[in-house]
Amino acid sequence: MADLVLALDQGTSSSRAILFDHGGNAVGSAQKPFEQIYPRPGWVEHDPEAIWQTQLATAKDALRQAKATADDVAAIGITNQRETTVIWDRGGRPIANAIVWQDRRTAPLCEELRKKGLEPLFRERTGLLLDPYFSGTKVKWLLDNVDGARARADSGDLMFGTIDSWLVYRLTGLHVTDYTNASRTLLYNIFDLRWDEELLGALGVPPGILPAVRASSGVLAETSLFGKSLPVAGIGGDQQAALFGQAAFEPGMAKNTYGTGAFCLMNIGERKVTSKNLLTTIAWGLSAGARDDVTYALEGSIFIAGAAVQWLRDELGIISTAAESQELAMSVPDSNGVYIVPAFVGLGAPHWDPTARGAIFGLTRGANRAHLARATLEAIAFQTCDVIEAIEADSGVTLSELRVDGGAAANDLLLQIQADLLGREVVRPAVLETTALGAAYLAGLATGFWKNAAEVTRNWREDRRFSPQMPAGRRDEMYAGWKTAVERVKGWSSASA
Ligand SMILES: Nc1ncnc2c1ncn2[C@@H]1O[C@H](COP(=O)(O)OP(=O)(O)OP(=O)(O)O)[C@@H](O)[C@H]1O
Ligand SMILES: [Mg+2]
Repeated sequence: MADLVLALDQGTSSSRAILFDHGGNAVGSAQKPFEQIYPRPGWVEHDPEAIWQTQLATAKDALRQAKATADDVAAIGITNQRETTVIWDRGGRPIANAIVWQDRRTAPLCEELRKKGLEPLFRERTGLLLDPYFSGTKVKWLLDNVDGARARADSGDLMFGTIDSWLVYRLTGLHVTDYTNASRTLLYNIFDLRWDEELLGALGVPPGILPAVRASSGVLAETSLFGKSLPVAGIGGDQQAALFGQAAFEPGMAKNTYGTGAFCLMNIGERKVTSKNLLTTIAWGLSAGARDDVTYALEGSIFIAGAAVQWLRDELGIISTAAESQELAMSVPDSNGVYIVPAFVGLGAPHWDPTARGAIFGLTRGANRAHLARATLEAIAFQTCDVIEAIEADSGVTLSELRVDGGAAANDLLLQIQADLLGREVVRPAVLETTALGAAYLAGLATGFWKNAAEVTRNWREDRRFSPQMPAGRRDEMYAGWKTAVERVKGWSSASA
């Protein structure tokens, strides 16, 4: 009996596959890292073939681990690292490595577009801003820099896609994407729901290379790669999928995912607003008769969160596993006045300063590794406070509690610090893999495996709740210190260049 849904979670650092049962419990999973390619400082690439091969292998491993076969699978859902850009030809061969979302090579191009006064146009139509983060400038870079690419694109020989498109193409041969991924390209009008000719023109992207945009939940096609025909029935960018997996279906509900970076999204329903310091993005688009039913979200993107813990482990060598950060930080009552601003790749929301760089402030003779570990966890929480302050100011909604997930949300101390610094309840669900779970829900809702959103909401279970315990005076004092520290790192790389 088909009593499982298979989620493919294609992340930045690894490919994962998880099988979920009707209750939303993970019953089998597999994970494979793949190579991070850094051809030059600031450049980050992935081999699309490695992405596909690791993803396919984890799907088969997850089935094996759950002692299941394709007969047990009702549907396949896909979620993915967003913005990462692939171009391939009609034979399915990539013309170059994928340019990863973290890649900064198109910063000069963004600056050029900004100088032409185009930022307001991009913001108004895409909900984004001109930052190398998004796909559009990466597409242009590939067309301009890979030999013969532009001519081949003009003659209809090439296809562009984000990672969801690439996986669906390999699974089914279709060239499609969904609303959530389209909304990260800088090419898609998120309010009119169409590729925007003017923006395509500004970026020199021929419309013929674009995928068709489909609902996030809906049967796209069947794949026969698992020994039996299975419907590929859901797509969502990882952060939007996590919002869905957290069952944040009502406007005003928000989640923060602590992974490599941290991404806080608030459901704003059908409100077609843009923001000054945050992104507006499509949370999901569900099929609904003639015109799909689109829900929007405000997003605060923090580029470095769990990656700062990896830095403690891999560069400073003061812990040997990410989980050890908790024990080490708990060995001291506070950070002893130390602040770490992990602006390793500049600052994302709400500061948007690509020239900021990381710094450690407040060192005294007594500062030790435990204080550094604690300051790192505090930095993750402070960055989240900055983003939530902006989200509340923009949306006019005051959060009563924050739902959290992602790998670093396993850290109890981090979540207690978060509750203390935010002054709100922080709630951790039983399933931390909400990204994969969201993709499973999108697919399973399309095939009737789950009947409706209410069923998903019923599946959401609380694991633990963290309540603020810090006196407000102390919190304000610490937060003021953080704000001063952030101001000091801004503009650093241009000042020091
Ligand atoms: N106990 C812990 N305490 C603090 N940080 C942790 C802990 N466990 C994991 N992390 C951090 O969480 C991150 C991994 O989380 P997760 O797997 O959700 O990342 P991700 O962003 O989804 O990865 P990808 O980008 O590949 O999808 C790592 O950066 C790691 O340092
Ligand atoms: Mg992930």
